[in-house]
Parts: sequence; structure tokens; C-alpha cells
Amino acid sequence: MKPTDSSPAPIFEIIKSRRVTRKFSHESVPLLSIHRLLEAARWAPTAGMRRLNNYIVVSNPKSLHKLRAASPGILSYPQVIIVICIDTSKVKALAFNDSNQRSIYVDLGTATENILLAAEELKLGACPVMAFHKAAVQIILNLPDTFEPAMMIIIGHPVPQKSIKQSHIKLPTLDETVHWENYGGKTT
Ligand SMILES: Cc1cc2nc3c(=O)[nH]c(=O)nc-3n(C[C@H](O)[C@H](O)[C@H](O)COP(=O)(O)O)c2cc1C
Repeated sequence: MKPTDSSPAPIFEIIKSRRVTRKFSHESVPLLSIHRLLEAARWAPTAGMRRLNNYIVVSNPKSLHKLRAASPGILSYPQVIIVICIDTSKVKALAFNDSNQRSIYVDLGTATENILLAAEELKLGACPVMAFHKAAVQIILNLPDTFEPAMMIIIGHPVPQKSIKQSHIKLPTLDETVHWENYGGKTT
């Protein structure tokens, strides 16, 4: 079952060109672009249409500084941080079972990826960050107990870096990870 049309769709180009950015310039990010990123997240698939994610947008330099201090995973100086928070009061009200619990974090991933791809389209740099101290972030952002900060996306204009050739990026090949029809099945 091989694809017949070899011409890549633009979305595929964006998926392939996106790489995390860990060095940002001092240029600020236009509000319109931030709105576009949030809009991209709004359209992400969410299990059962439950919509548990909330977004805190931080661009105030003092708050950015504090968030960096609470986040060993932030290795650079972004202009904006979007903190995705899970509304745990909704989680409680919906009485999630074990398999639903997992979907909470899948929803986080779909929103994150939409933001990352939209950022790439807008020629912004971005990086997801999960290495941060939740309790500290909770205090810095004045979050209610029912808002769990679960993901940060750091954003800014990328400082041009020596680009890594796509052929040098070590990804598993499809043959290594895909099984056709059954375990171990090969493509024809
Ligand atoms: C769930 C998740 C958590 C991540 N947390 C961090 C982090 O705390 N700090 C960081 O610098 N990068 C983080 N990253 C970025 C990964 O390191 C990066 O995506 C990976 O090295 C592959 O690089 P690429 O996205 O450019 O292909 C995270 C990525 C994901 C998907």
C-alpha cells in the first residue's frame, strides 16, 4: 500500500521543518501571532469534547524571569510562554476512569502540537517544556488549586542557528516502527 501522489502537501513540509528552538532574539512576538497560536490550540482534537485545557499567556519580563527560575527545562530566554493548565475541577466532576485519565494528557499533546506547528508556519520558534516545578508555577501565576500547570510552550523569534540537515536527524525509519496489517507484517 504505497502512496500514489508524491507531491508533498504544505502541512507535511511544516511538520518536517519544525524543530525546537532553544535560542530566541529580543524581538517581541506580535499579539496577533499569539492569538493565532491560541486559535490553533482551540481547534485541536479533545477526547469527548471535554476541553479541559486552559491557557495562561505570559509576556511580562518579570514573570518570564520567575518562570525561568522555576523551570530547569527552559534553557533560553523566550519572549512569551504559554502555560497549558488542566482544569482539575472538570476532571473531578466528570469522574474519570483510568483510560479517561490517559486522554487528559493526550489532549495536552494535541494542543501542544497544534501550537508548535502554527508557530512554525508563522516563522516563530517554540519549544515544549515539561521540566518545571508545578507548585512554584502555581504560585507565580496565581493559579487556583483547580488549575494544574501541565505544559509550557516557550515562544519567540528564533536566532538563526546552523541548520541541521534533515538527512542528519536520526529518526526511526518506517520499516523499524511500522507493521502492516499484523505484527511483523511488511509492506508490499
Ligand atoms: C512532552 C515533551 C516535553 C519536553 N520537555 C522539554 C523540556 O523540559 N525542555 C526542553 O528543552 N525541551 C523539551 N522538549 C523538547 C524535546 O527535547 C525535543 O522535542 C526533542 O529533543 C526533539 O527535537 P525536535 O522537536 O526539534 O525534533 C519536550 C518535548 C516533549 C514532546
